Amino acid sequence: DGRRYMRAPGARVTVFAHRGAPTLAPENTLPSDEAARRSGADWIENDVQPSRDGVPHIMHDETVDRTTDGHGRIRDLTSAQLAGLDAGKWFRPEFSGTRVMTLRGQLADLRSRGGRLLLEIKNPQTREEIARIVDEVRHSGMSDRVFVQSFDRESLRITRDLAPDLPLGLLGDEPEADPVAVARELRLTSYNPSYYLITTHPDLVRRMHEAGVAVFAWTPDNPHDWSKLNEAGVDGIITNRSADLVAWNRQH
Ligand code: G3P
Ligand code: CA
Repeated sequence: DGRRYMRAPGARVTVFAHRGAPTLAPENTLPSDEAARRSGADWIENDVQPSRDGVPHIMHDETVDRTTDGHGRIRDLTSAQLAGLDAGKWFRPEFSGTRVMTLRGQLADLRSRGGRLLLEIKNPQTREEIARIVDEVRHSGMSDRVFVQSFDRESLRITRDLAPDLPLGLLGDEPEADPVAVARELRLTSYNPSYYLITTHPDLVRRMHEAGVAVFAWTPDNPHDWSKLNEAGVDGIITNRSADLVAWNRQH
């Protein structure tokens, strides 16, 4: 049920820190998540994908090329190879030595430092791969602080099947003919559309709320867009600039 994630009238929007704080530190790494935590964000959004040996790692792209000093598809590299990469130097020299996080490391950090995790199952993943993610979440004891999202419906169905307790959000970047029917079929807690779907579909938030589904929109980074989403009644905003959105929230 998405009602517990909906905002009460007059309450501020929930702040989701997209890939941590990617304007301050290398995205999807410990320093980025730490900066997001310090910014006062309610949730940290990170992406998860398996290495060749099936270990869930935190990374957005299908290849390691943009965000590390290595080359190739994350799926083709072992966890030992990934552990040897530098995931910070590309961003700024002072972040040299930053490592690619495993999901296990991410969850351990969450447990010791606090915070909640919006975990995106990136790209369609197999049942076995999703089982590994779910196991990591369970063993970490962090199940009540993790929310799973994906663009891939089958990945969400598998997650629901393996972990009925985890809240699920469907990411959307195309209009849905019947978003309420989709939400019912997938038993969604939230629908997480691209910002433009909210501005082009004025009744979308109301329809989802009536169906008991929360709405989190991504990834506007400026006050003009935050105002529009706020007025549209979204429950949460997934942003690259969580520190600014937290400050903006205090004034609105
Ligand atoms: O959380 C929404 C957003 O993360 C989806 O797009 O490509 O940044 O993972 P992407
Ligand atoms: Ca993401």
